[in-house]
Amino acid sequence: MKPSPRMLISCKNSSSFLARCHPTAPRAMSNNLSSTNNIRMLGFARIMNGNHRAFRLPSSRYFSHLTSRPQTFRSPAATRINGDVTTATVNELGLKPRKSSVNDKKNLEIEKVYIKTDNGIDEKQLVVEKSADKESELEAGGEEDNARSENKVSEGVAAPIINNNGEEETDVEREAWKLLQEALVTYCDTPVGTVAANDSSEESLNYDQVFIRDFIPSALAFLLKGENEIVKNFLLHTLQLQSWEKTVDCYSPGQGLMPASFKVKTMQVDEEKVEEVLDPDFGESAIGRVAPVDSGLWWIILLRAYGKLTGDYSLQERVDVQTGLEMILNLCLTDGFDMFPSLLVTDGSCMIDRRMGIHGHPLEIQALFYSALRSAREMVKVDDGSKNLVREINNRLSALSFHIREYYWLDMKKMNEIYRYKTEEYSLDATNKFNIYPEQIPLWLMDWVPQEGGYLIGNLQPAHMDFRFFMLGNLWSIVSSLGTPKQNKSILNLIEAKWDDLVGHMPLKICYPALESEEWRIITGSDPKNTPWSYHNGGSWPTLLWQFTLACIKMGRTELAEDAVALAEKRLPVDSWPEYYDTRTGKFIGKQARLYQTWTLAGFLASKMFLKNPETAAMLCWEEDLEILETCACALSKSGRAKCSRDAAKSQILV
Ligand code: GLC
Repeated sequence: MKPSPRMLISCKNSSSFLARCHPTAPRAMSNNLSSTNNIRMLGFARIMNGNHRAFRLPSSRYFSHLTSRPQTFRSPAATRINGDVTTATVNELGLKPRKSSVNDKKNLEIEKVYIKTDNGIDEKQLVVEKSADKESELEAGGEEDNARSENKVSEGVAAPIINNNGEEETDVEREAWKLLQEALVTYCDTPVGTVAANDSSEESLNYDQVFIRDFIPSALAFLLKGENEIVKNFLLHTLQLQSWEKTVDCYSPGQGLMPASFKVKTMQVDEEKVEEVLDPDFGESAIGRVAPVDSGLWWIILLRAYGKLTGDYSLQERVDVQTGLEMILNLCLTDGFDMFPSLLVTDGSCMIDRRMGIHGHPLEIQALFYSALRSAREMVKVDDGSKNLVREINNRLSALSFHIREYYWLDMKKMNEIYRYKTEEYSLDATNKFNIYPEQIPLWLMDWVPQEGGYLIGNLQPAHMDFRFFMLGNLWSIVSSLGTPKQNKSILNLIEAKWDDLVGHMPLKICYPALESEEWRIITGSDPKNTPWSYHNGGSWPTLLWQFTLACIKMGRTELAEDAVALAEKRLPVDSWPEYYDTRTGKFIGKQARLYQTWTLAGFLASKMFLKNPETAAMLCWEEDLEILETCACALSKSGRAKCSRDAAKSQILV
């Protein structure tokens, strides 16, 4: 598949297959793209008076189970598309019954008006009328803001009620659902993702975009609620973006690269017509121009989750989806100069998307890479064309799990070994293969690691171990069984033993400890956003809750997740769902944290749902696979000239 020269994907064009948008549009689009190069995405864009556009949020299909009373809100997603007010009718999840029946009636009328027909022009005039009506109402009342403040839940109040699915739901959960709904982004009238944050008090920068990594907890919450279509749309639309040409100063990164984020923009086609386009950011606009290595890995992980939670495996079997999957895998599995099976990446290539000294082989990327490979192993269709790829996946899984289990693991025993390391060993069977100088062991570490716990270190390079504890990589190693069962158990033991440091007032620390003084100056480049115990540098990120919950359920430590979720439930709504918290124990809302951060509230919702139905969590985790451990593809074992270093490893890697 060749990349198309166009940068933007438009949902509106001349070709016949999508003269207008339709819920099944993404499928049609993808099918078409897979069979032809250089095609413009087609669809239907509503035309509005001035810049006012109308769309119909998925009220009838989405959230219909939550309440049947239609109400209105200003869609922030759409608002930010072109900076104008856009209205829509939805089923609101308000905590308090609304009093105004006049408004309800008006909205019902709007809903009727917004029902799509095949005749876009007739519809246009009707919509304009109602839209103008709605605009004055919004200007006068600021309804969204009122709803928000009304919905504030006072601390500690979480009286559960039964929702339409027969499940208990607290006020806080209902508030989170409402906010998640408000974060929806539509493209050609179809929901395709959620904005990163919905905070009108701050400059949006790129927080008004749909980030691939941020959408994962939203996607899981939707899937667990049975709202599958939005996730399918997201997977298919981002698939289109993957093959698009992207350049930074005339250089094009690999074809399988998934963007960090995308935005729905409107384009003036002619005097009257406005067309919606998808505008991806592959890092060419991102602060620091960081490459989003994790996006493709998350995409694969989500594709598997979609199959597992919906039972619809036809999506992953589609030719275009298989092609996209292979493109990501090929990009990751390409030979380079590397000596290790771990992925070599630049700084800031994942959730930590600023300079934080995580270039090289950061654990987060390795854990996601491993999870993506395990997902792919279940999904790649095996035939003559893919058999080499399948072999490569298996070999890489085996080598990667050995590498991480053996060289990244740290507990008291291992620390003592490192403490006594000999250095400058030149031989095939050196003990200290990476030439780590024992002086590198930081003082804080010696007293920090508990007797019964351990963790996977943040990074490993020649003469360098990054001893910081990174939460996402460790949690995801548990979830994917990258760690051994014993290691996985020890990681949770450590989190429990170090609860004050890693959970404190708000789950969970992104990394521990913070870089301070000279280290901060040199490693972050004096980044004022990443000052000690803030943001990526030791801040606390509530979005990590869902990954923690998955890990706890998998390891039979549900009570840990329950405690963390309870902490979050008490504070998040009071603090307006911030992006992150600052200070050693996560006491303050982050200095520059966005409020109404979508992955904060979606992560909370997903956690609650996993706890209610732990079997769904189990479906997303991976168990130990002995086959992976047995595969040793190295040439040494065949030639008999020298012994395979893996066989010689004296460590605890197998169990
Ligand atoms: C920040 C985070 C990144 C996230 C983005 C959008 O840049 O570091 O992980 O994806 O915000 O929320």
